Amino acid sequence: MLVSATEMLKKAKAGHYAVGQFNINNLEWTKAILATAQELNSPVILGVSEGAGKYMGGYDVVVGMVNGLIKDQNITVPVALHLDHGSYDHCYKCIEAGFSSVMFDGSHYPIDENVAKTTELVAAAHAKGVSIEAEVGSIGGEEDGVVGAGECADPMECKAIADLGVDFLAAGIGNIHGKYPENWAGLSFETLAAVQEQTGDLPLVLHGGTGIPADMIKKAIELGVAKINVNTECQLAFAEATRKYIEAGKDLEGKGFDPRKLLAPGAEAIKATVKEKMELFGSVNKA
Ligand code: 13P
Repeated sequence: MLVSATEMLKKAKAGHYAVGQFNINNLEWTKAILATAQELNSPVILGVSEGAGKYMGGYDVVVGMVNGLIKDQNITVPVALHLDHGSYDHCYKCIEAGFSSVMFDGSHYPIDENVAKTTELVAAAHAKGVSIEAEVGSIGGEEDGVVGAGECADPMECKAIADLGVDFLAAGIGNIHGKYPENWAGLSFETLAAVQEQTGDLPLVLHGGTGIPADMIKKAIELGVAKINVNTECQLAFAEATRKYIEAGKDLEGKGFDPRKLLAPGAEAIKATVKEKMELFGSVNKA
């Protein structure tokens, strides 16, 4: 059964580890991530961007697929299904469709409008037992059409949004979606510490988990990050393993073209990436 992300993230914050949000794109992704979480006895959050939801056929398809896998694959660790960078309308759609968690990305609105819309969505989500994440500041780079300048969050604005009753908060601290450029300045731990001081026990979220060095991840967790989002790294791992399979001509050997064979190395590569992240985040055996 899907659970909201509230309890698992409160536990993570208190226990000084982070739960991974891994974005899904299709059945292979979802199966690989759930199997790894179960194997490592780790809680997990499946992230779905609006673009990925559309690609998979719609939110009902996603909810049906995830619930079906949890049942048929005997997944017993806590799993949350979370809308990533949701617009106002899509938050409602996902709450209705059976997601257990949503993110309202109101970071591009003036703070007053972000506050008004977040307030309304907190009530709608909580009425259905759904957890809700909000964002202040912005995550740099681009993900599925969501573009951000990457400015650091204002800690007082974080407090204003935290006080609305959101369950966890994404604060921009110099993090970027996708690969980090050579000249990246790194995470602003100063901003993170100031946000944490204003938001107390509220679990903080670090987007753009791909390519952040291990020591920065550990420091971010020490400073109150309890959820880390990873998307691009699984895509890169999947693409590389699939390319190797094809370049080695394996799709031309026997029935190597069978999708169950062709996509297997990519799925294994996703599992290895998720395992590495869960170990780094400290969520192993925390189910
Ligand atoms: P990456 O693609 O950089 O891992 O970012 C994922 C993310 O933050 C999803 O919201």
